[in-house]
Amino acid sequence: MRTSKNNPKPKPVFVKPPLRLQTTTLWDFPSQHYGTGMQGDKNYAGATPSYLIWNLLKRYTKENDLVLDPMCGSGTTLDVCRDLKRQGLGFDLAPYRDDIQFANARHLPLKNESVDFIFVDPPYSTHIRYSGDPRCLGELSANDTEYYEEMSLVITEMHRVLKTGGFLGLYISDSFVKDQPFMPIGFEIFSRLKLFFQPVDIVSVVRHNQKLEKGNFHMAAEKHNFFLRGFNYLFIMKKSEHLTEAILGEKERAKSKNKRKKKVSL
Ligand SMILES: C[S@@+](CC[C@H](N)C(=O)[O-])C[C@H]1O[C@@H](n2cnc3c(N)ncnc32)[C@H](O)[C@@H]1O
Repeated sequence: MRTSKNNPKPKPVFVKPPLRLQTTTLWDFPSQHYGTGMQGDKNYAGATPSYLIWNLLKRYTKENDLVLDPMCGSGTTLDVCRDLKRQGLGFDLAPYRDDIQFANARHLPLKNESVDFIFVDPPYSTHIRYSGDPRCLGELSANDTEYYEEMSLVITEMHRVLKTGGFLGLYISDSFVKDQPFMPIGFEIFSRLKLFFQPVDIVSVVRHNQKLEKGNFHMAAEKHNFFLRGFNYLFIMKKSEHLTEAILGEKERAKSKNKRKKKVSL
């Protein structure tokens, strides 16, 4: 085909591959959204790629199961739930749309053992300003212990509301900021999750960040000898009876120890 200024070379048409179950621990899909529509909002900074939630729901839930996202952002989890006929329950400190309810993920208005599956994509350090609410985890630097202490409260709460035998997917990234120590957030969070849940698998999810493609980020990474984030972690965990009993036993032991201490000091 002849091309000229008035008749520029046509751009190759991008065709999305069909959705399929990922079968290795390296997940990749070239688009934020599957199909012809949109799940969540493409303009929402920090939205989760929807194929990832679709894969988790396909594997670990069945029709009508109750799926919780305690940090629901633009509602990607709710849209995937609708597509797969699961019941979605979304909370956030800053509800972005009407089907998301207000709640702090540290204190969910839910009964013990009431949901079948949980997906969560929490803030990783302070890269994105979500609502500015002081309770938002995105206000805390992952170079400070407070971020991990507060994430532990969210993990405890998710353990409380998930049914025994249910699964949880947590999506997170490490972080590097120039002139600061590297933040191995994934390892830190995994070690905390493991206190409550049985690990099922660890997946690396390829990041497709268009901003990184455009800027001089790759040149800077070479010049200043650092690495851009190429993947996110997806931790898949299960609430097992065995671990729950151990946790409850530990809590009971701590309670009776405290009681004994009080008696002695009376
Ligand atoms: C990475 S975004 C979630 C993106 C979402 N999965 C989506 O696809 O749009 C993290 C979300 O966590 C919320 N958040 C942060 N701290 C929270 C807290 N303590 N309780 C509830 N939501 C919180 C933020 O408001 C933000 O919407």
